[in-house]
Amino acid sequence: MCGIVGYIGKKSVVPVILDSLQTLEYRGYDSAGLAFVDNDLLTVYKASGKLMNLRNQLPEKLFEKNGKSRYIGMGHTRWATHGAPTDQNAHPHVSCDGNIALIHNGIVENYGELREGLTQKGHQFHSKTDTECVVHLIEELSKSEPDMMKVLQQVSQRLVGAYALVILDKRHPDKLYGVRNHAPLVVGIGEDELLLGSDVVAVVEHTNKVAYLKDGEIVELSPQGFKVINFYGEPIDAKVETIASGQLIADKKGFKHFMLKEIHEQPDVIRSSLSGRLITPEEPIALFQSDAAQRLEQINRIFIVACGTSYHAGLVGKYFIEDLVRIPVEVEAAGEFRYRNPVIDDKTLVIAISQSGETADTLTAIRQSHDKGSPVIAITNREDSTIARESDWVLPVRAGLEVSVCATKSFTAQVIVLYLLGLYLAETRKALAAENLQEIKSELQRLPALVEHILHTPEPIQALAKKYGNSRDMIFIARGINFPAALEGALKLKEISYIHAEGYSASELKHGPIAMLDRSIPVVAVLTEGIVYDKMISNCQEAKARDAYVIAINSGPMPEDVKDTFEDVLMIPKTHELLSPILTSVPMQLLAYYIAEFLGKDVDQPRNLAKSVTVE
Ligand code: G6P
Repeated sequence: MCGIVGYIGKKSVVPVILDSLQTLEYRGYDSAGLAFVDNDLLTVYKASGKLMNLRNQLPEKLFEKNGKSRYIGMGHTRWATHGAPTDQNAHPHVSCDGNIALIHNGIVENYGELREGLTQKGHQFHSKTDTECVVHLIEELSKSEPDMMKVLQQVSQRLVGAYALVILDKRHPDKLYGVRNHAPLVVGIGEDELLLGSDVVAVVEHTNKVAYLKDGEIVELSPQGFKVINFYGEPIDAKVETIASGQLIADKKGFKHFMLKEIHEQPDVIRSSLSGRLITPEEPIALFQSDAAQRLEQINRIFIVACGTSYHAGLVGKYFIEDLVRIPVEVEAAGEFRYRNPVIDDKTLVIAISQSGETADTLTAIRQSHDKGSPVIAITNREDSTIARESDWVLPVRAGLEVSVCATKSFTAQVIVLYLLGLYLAETRKALAAENLQEIKSELQRLPALVEHILHTPEPIQALAKKYGNSRDMIFIARGINFPAALEGALKLKEISYIHAEGYSASELKHGPIAMLDRSIPVVAVLTEGIVYDKMISNCQEAKARDAYVIAINSGPMPEDVKDTFEDVLMIPKTHELLSPILTSVPMQLLAYYIAEFLGKDVDQPRNLAKSVTVE
């Protein structure tokens, strides 16, 4: 979603801003802009489309040092919420008097009312955004209050919604201001320089020292340092932390796209997720460092909340945990959970799953769960995120920076952590015999090698991509614990190839979707050895009887007489049925990747999508 960068220091500001915006590019955006103050002049450039369009507008002299001792500026990548992705709607927005520029991440919910009031006072609007009213509001309030920190406190009383703001005022040419309320903002503290970023990724090129602002805080950066106050004007002692910046630097490592690299990282990601937690099958799972055990003993129900791919990981978790622990598990999209007063209490464990740790709906679901007394575990790839900070316990998935918008390795790592959590609960509650637990643990340890085996032979999947890449629709079917894997397979395909794809439980096929089937709609069927294997074969035969091409992702002993049901068969290694979604997902990730590549799509930055969705 929107990316924010602010800079005050000795480096030439435009290259710093462009480089930092580039590090945020992967999060998805549709226009960009920047502003800086030079010789008391506030200069703004904006362009719709990729950063390159902005870069192409900028005079070369902006890339040179011009002898100044200090530079100040800010930049923004916008993911449109209100108003189309045009030059005019791109940030920064500027006040009528040309003194103040502002960038924003989030949504101002009461912008209509504010805009009307400000228009009546004579302010002229040039965009269709919700954001522009904020810069006019600041201008209006500054007429009677010269202190910008005080103005921003007043602004915070007037705005409804989520916002991270950065403000540049040419009347205070050595200061940069930031405001955080339900959208992330971090201060980077370097040698003789200070930065602001919507994510630490934006500042790590320059420093590994950061201070995370909290909701309801305002910051002022100046050559003397930074100072933080809350919305009531009280000074805040912001904690400066040192981060492991190396892990946050994006590198394709020779792969054509980040997505392909991240798919190939999965064996190592599984090893890393298991490391120190599953030591030998005989030893108990070591998952929590704190007092969790006692608190978790009292739990009689689990509620998993998440969005997108993380939601699908949660569904796999439900099948696994219910099977092993015999405790009811519900899974709900966080955006639904937050608006329907769910029945949860202090005996309900809420598990919030989020790769980015910043997804607005998931964060709100956590806050509501806390309000109802439920303890919350965060399963996240970002230990530095707001979701991690606001949860009672954090289980890091250890997938490393995921750059491609299309989540792959983070899904695998989330599922692994859910497996570990299920095993931990089964052990501590003595819900399953030790030998059954040990069998699953041994199989878990084999998974990295089995994923490697799949990755070593991409050719059959590449061939399928060419054969079916021009389809208009595709259906993914599975049963049992692979049903969520089918949903995820369909999601991968639509996200990056824009082919319409749906995932169904194979048992549901005949209750509607079968009406669509004919030769033009390939059906990808997931068949793993286990109780639903024969049922799956019957469902595939029903699809074949409607003339559909059925492609099997198969680990079972397919009987000779049913082989002609399938147009193509991709063999995958066998594992414990409950762990099989890890293996069945990989070929579906690769299929989506190779189809998108075959179609020439922008694999890592698909249209309309954002990596981190910080607005609801
Ligand atoms: C966005 C991304 C998806 C992701 C979802 C949830 O829509 O494009 O890939 O699954 O957000 O994100 P989270 O960071 O909470 O896992």
